[in-house]
Amino acid sequence: MNSPDIAGPELLEESNLFYRDPALYDSVQSDSDSADVCRALIGRHSPDARTLLDFGCGTGRDLELLAKHFDCIGVDLQPGLIDYAHRTRPELDVRLGDMRTVRLGRTADVLVCLGNSLAYAHDNHDVRAAFQTFAAHSRPGTILVLCSPVAPIERPRPQSARVETGQGTATVTISYEWDLLTQINSTHRHWTFDSGEEAHDVIRRRVLGPRELELHAALVGFDVVEITDESATGSLTGPGAYTVARYRAQ
Ligand SMILES: C[S@@+](CC[C@H](N)C(=O)[O-])C[C@H]1O[C@@H](n2cnc3c(N)ncnc32)[C@H](O)[C@@H]1O
Repeated sequence: MNSPDIAGPELLEESNLFYRDPALYDSVQSDSDSADVCRALIGRHSPDARTLLDFGCGTGRDLELLAKHFDCIGVDLQPGLIDYAHRTRPELDVRLGDMRTVRLGRTADVLVCLGNSLAYAHDNHDVRAAFQTFAAHSRPGTILVLCSPVAPIERPRPQSARVETGQGTATVTISYEWDLLTQINSTHRHWTFDSGEEAHDVIRRRVLGPRELELHAALVGFDVVEITDESATGSLTGPGAYTVARYRAQ
């Protein structure tokens, strides 16, 4: 079934400057600790893990760090990001694929879906399809580590920051919108480059609360074993969270 709300690769690229400029994405994310948090969670819940699949791997920035510890394959929907990953991280096994439909013909000890990649599945059908993909790559004991928004970001006023980009320095002004009916949190970013050029992004992310994540996981055979913020200590402060689930069987 085709969902009217599917973000195809063209739409994702058009809507987000980071996807048009993957080097900028990597540089803005360079201080991210998501691979470290993910490793800590894997160490706690699957200490003997050796193989890992990353769904929505983007430029491969987390995969590069995870591949030092696990045999990894990454999948992403956008050809531009996969090309960039091949050029800049040729040692990685990264492949074009859609987490709603891809079947790699293997299972792994760990599945990850980091950096809010799951939030690009906007409607319930797409979320369910993504979880079915996770189950299709699991065997009893496989763990799934998701990093996704569990609550919306809401700010009373737009916020501005200065950012170094491949096109020079820019002022980026960010505002948020929350649609309770669809549970879509939109981030609007307006870029004003020192050259005078301007660009506008809209990033739409589906928010799935902890109980919804538990339900989607359970429907395909996973038990959630931990939901935590990036402290990985079990506290949940939002808006983002790491969810760890273990595959039992369907
Ligand atoms: C914010 S980026 C995160 C990338 C990477 N995980 C990271 O943390 O740097 C979200 C990624 O999800 C990918 N994505 C969105 N929908 C997808 C789908 N259906 N299948 C595979 N990748 C998808 C996008 O192309 C994008 O690379």
